[in-house]
Amino acid sequence: MTTQWNPDGWRQRPALQMPEYADAAELSGVLEKLRSFPPLVFAGEVNALRHRLAQVANGNGFLLQGGDCAESFAEFHPDNIRDTFRVLMQMAVVLTFGGAVPVVKVGRMAGQFAKPRSSPTEIVDGVELPIYRGDIVNGIEEDLAARQPDPQRLLTAYSQAAATLNLLRAFAQGGYADLYKIQRWNLDFVEGTDAAARYMEISNRISEALDFMEACGITGDSVPEMRQTDFYTSHEALLLNYEESMTREDTITRTGGWYDTSAHMVWIGDRTRQADGAHVDYCRGIHNPLGLKCGPSLETDDMLRLIDILNPDNEPGRLTLICRMSDDQVMEKLPPLVRAVEREGHMVVWSCDPMHGNTIKSSTGYKTRPFDRILAEVRGFFAVHQAEGTHAGGVHVEMTGKDVTECLGGAQLIDEEQLASRYHTHCDPRLNASQSLELAFLIAEMLKQQRTERPRSVEAAQ
Ligand code: PEP
Ligand code: CO
Repeated sequence: MTTQWNPDGWRQRPALQMPEYADAAELSGVLEKLRSFPPLVFAGEVNALRHRLAQVANGNGFLLQGGDCAESFAEFHPDNIRDTFRVLMQMAVVLTFGGAVPVVKVGRMAGQFAKPRSSPTEIVDGVELPIYRGDIVNGIEEDLAARQPDPQRLLTAYSQAAATLNLLRAFAQGGYADLYKIQRWNLDFVEGTDAAARYMEISNRISEALDFMEACGITGDSVPEMRQTDFYTSHEALLLNYEESMTREDTITRTGGWYDTSAHMVWIGDRTRQADGAHVDYCRGIHNPLGLKCGPSLETDDMLRLIDILNPDNEPGRLTLICRMSDDQVMEKLPPLVRAVEREGHMVVWSCDPMHGNTIKSSTGYKTRPFDRILAEVRGFFAVHQAEGTHAGGVHVEMTGKDVTECLGGAQLIDEEQLASRYHTHCDPRLNASQSLELAFLIAEMLKQQRTERPRSVEAAQ
């Protein structure tokens, strides 16, 4: 691997999962326009996230990353953004309070449009159609015209990402995330469930703590962190045309270098992580924190090679390994990876994606995920890190603030028959608000346990 790097160097390498556009001139016109548009995020913010993740890599903190599997143009609405943000905040409150750790909040939002697919085409009513690759590429409608990759969609995706990010910044900094208002965050349909009752109990205790602090002279005016939060964005760096056109050289911070200004953090998917492939080449040159999806087919040597390419200076916070093994393989596949990383002294954040290894087809024909299997993979992930003396540092989930019926089980006991009632995802099945909160409670318990059983070496390192 050469050390020379350019934003378009990926074009010299095999690039999987990329659409073929019929009109090359139209595509390059659109990309040219994108290159002239303002960046969506700034180098200083990206560096701040890397520092926060460095603390997680050092055993102090937890990464909460979540949002849609695929954002869609059709579901673009302020209420949807608000609801997903709110559930992420509620999960963060549960994790911060229950687990007593700082939580780094990263949305799969404001740019999570492009999807890797297992097959380039599908047969619908006897007709072969190009597969749907996410709204940034083509339409989900089952007809030939909609499925043609359309360059104009890149511009719509940019605008939607910009507007989404604008609202997220307002929510995070402008008072919505105010801890003093925590009890007023609407619990809607979660109401009446065990998770809602537990959440209310936590928010009452936080309010008591705030009253106590205020009596001691510590208020939201003296500590602004109590009234606002840091919220970051992320998506899969899949559609490299788009990522390349959003790549800018930083001339403002002292550090310089190239940044992908489409999101604070990007990740490499399980299908595009070839060491000599285009996606790895693009990602190695940008300064953003990177995620690398680690599925059950990832061999230890390949992982070590990827770590060398993506984080040659062993900088903590640069690389998050997002493991998505499935509930029945996590205990077998994860330990060798963890041991190899420890042996080589690599500084990484270990995160668990309990969604992508646990997808099944219901008898009613829906792509779904049993909530019990999701919980089981998270439990397995924590058990492995506890056994190895390493830090279970994060979770990566597909979720929404809406009351959808896409994953089986949870407190609402969603069964196969019910999946049809509110199945809205454009790609993979997401946790609904109630399932997301339930998962947060489980993780908080395990974080508490991790903290009390933490090995001496971690304490000593701080
Ligand atoms: C995803 O995160 O939506 C995804 C496709 O994941 P993976 O690459 O792990 O399959
Ligand atoms: Co997905």
